[in-house]
Amino acid sequence: MSGTIQGFSKELTLTVKCFFGFEETLIEELNELGYPKVSKLNRAVQLKGTWKDVYFLNLHLRCAISILVEITTFRIKSEDDLYNQARKINWSNFFDVKKTFAVRGAIFSDLFTSTHYPNLLLKDAVVDHFREAAGTRPDVELKRPQVMLDLYVNNYEATISVNTSGNPLFQRGYRSTAGDAPINEVVAASLIRLSGWDRKTTFIDPFCGSGTFLIEAALLASGIPSNIERQHYAFKNFKNFDAELWDETYDSATRIVRSLPCEILGSDISDEMVLKSRRNLRTFSFGRFIKISPKPFNEVKTPEGRVFILSNPPYDVRMDAEVETLYQEIGSWLKHEIKDGKACIISSSIEGLKSIGLKPSSKVKVYNGNLDCSFRSYDLFEGKRKENIT
Ligand SMILES: C[S@@+](CC[C@H](N)C(=O)[O-])C[C@H]1O[C@@H](n2cnc3c(N)ncnc32)[C@H](O)[C@@H]1O
Repeated sequence: MSGTIQGFSKELTLTVKCFFGFEETLIEELNELGYPKVSKLNRAVQLKGTWKDVYFLNLHLRCAISILVEITTFRIKSEDDLYNQARKINWSNFFDVKKTFAVRGAIFSDLFTSTHYPNLLLKDAVVDHFREAAGTRPDVELKRPQVMLDLYVNNYEATISVNTSGNPLFQRGYRSTAGDAPINEVVAASLIRLSGWDRKTTFIDPFCGSGTFLIEAALLASGIPSNIERQHYAFKNFKNFDAELWDETYDSATRIVRSLPCEILGSDISDEMVLKSRRNLRTFSFGRFIKISPKPFNEVKTPEGRVFILSNPPYDVRMDAEVETLYQEIGSWLKHEIKDGKACIISSSIEGLKSIGLKPSSKVKVYNGNLDCSFRSYDLFEGKRKENIT
């Protein structure tokens, strides 16, 4: 039975998962955090690290969904090979039989007729190990398992990892209340980084909803980790959890700031949403520095000097024809209100985006959850306005 598997040896293989199209954004973030040696995968980035890095990255990465630690990788020629190899792993080294667990998998192999079946084989191998070793078995809990195992099969190669984050890292723990169409927190953080905001220019979201962009921008500008309010991390349920190391990691992070390096402003037409974003902001020391007002976007007066707008206006199907009129008005407001700045808009309404009537300096395909979206940037200078208009 393998007991000193790679998962608990010194140098670990870490796979950091991200959303579609944000691999380079995540690489940039990792580089900035002091991890220059990384390789790009599909919706993930891989690097070497230790458990200290695992704790640090779970806390600090804003653009990651989860961090996996590889336990083992092996060749398989049949379904039985997967079970037999997984059965050799000393699972009792990883977690206690009293912890609940689940297996999530991504299977790209014609060895299996069902993509669900390999997960069952791994689950059976874990259960059979504990039955033999401890005379009892751990319970499977699909929704909120304490230990999450990750199975990746690519043709004839299987990789088993532990998901050290557990629930996805966009469950930040700061958004107690959201609106109908909130932006995913990891998508918001990734878009802010992708937008190239310098963390100094006045940041404005005139459709702020529950305040996700405002909060992620303030967290970034103040150097507070986006996951500072999160309590749950699956690694806390592992047998090797080092509480002291985790406390050190947590305590050395910035948690409180006395000011922000820039102005951050939000507004929304809905009084209810303004209250929600204010409530979410109250969690943080910087909450009182962010001004949020109840008003329609076209009544927003931007401060003097350069401004940076990042927003996701409504794109609902409920609005249908109105969506084009709304986006035309957004375009007109941008043209008249912004003398010097940049506006970045994410929307799933392509017709809406076209109605803005400005030439984007960049267009990127992204997803917000299952929604197919486009993220467009517009450079706005008074002198250049005429050539910008399409
Ligand atoms: C897609 S949601 C934004 C969600 C937000 N990013 C979040 O994370 O919660 C669009 C927001 O625009 C607001 N809204 C709709 N029409 C508006 C208008 N004319 N002016 C300002 N806000 C408006 C809605 O109340 C809603 O909160």
